Amino acid sequence: MSRERTFLMAKPDAVSRGLVGEVIRRVERKGLKIVAMKMMRIDRDLAEQHYGEHREKPFFGDLVSFITSNPVVAMVIEGKDAVRVVRSLLGETDPNRSPMGTLRGDFGLDLGRNIVHGSDSPESAEREINLFFRPEEILDYERADEGWVYE
Ligand code: RTP
Ligand code: MG
Repeated sequence: MSRERTFLMAKPDAVSRGLVGEVIRRVERKGLKIVAMKMMRIDRDLAEQHYGEHREKPFFGDLVSFITSNPVVAMVIEGKDAVRVVRSLLGETDPNRSPMGTLRGDFGLDLGRNIVHGSDSPESAEREINLFFRPEEILDYERADEGWVYE
């Protein structure tokens, strides 16, 4: 079975609103494994690299200002189909179009304050994990319930 990795981040609004525990709780109870995690302040250079695909978009300046405005919690998440599954835990980009039961649907109202980031493809995941973490910061361990989460 493929144990994929993805990059997940509690954005500055999640940290500032005390929602980090809620983000982590939903990841853990799904059975996904947190294999790296750190609280950090994203500097302008890292923000521009991370959101490089949006450099030409009109909202790029606001996006960079927001993501650098307060600390974030960056994570590497591992598990079956982790990229797709984490995106489904987040919901749609716009919280108001996001179903209830998703993080964005349950906790957000505005497009530019959507609580969490998750990689949108395995290729993005690899790029983003390498941007935020050194290889030795990603830990190899077993969760005690793996035999009950996976057949
Ligand atoms: P993210 O990268 O933050 O996880 O969000 P996403 O994949 O769901 O959405 P993406 O298209 O990558 O957009 C990145 C962030 O830019 C803001 N955005 N604003 N004003 C706009 O039209 C607009 N479109 C996107 C959102 O905050 C989104 O999370
Ligand atoms: Mg994106």
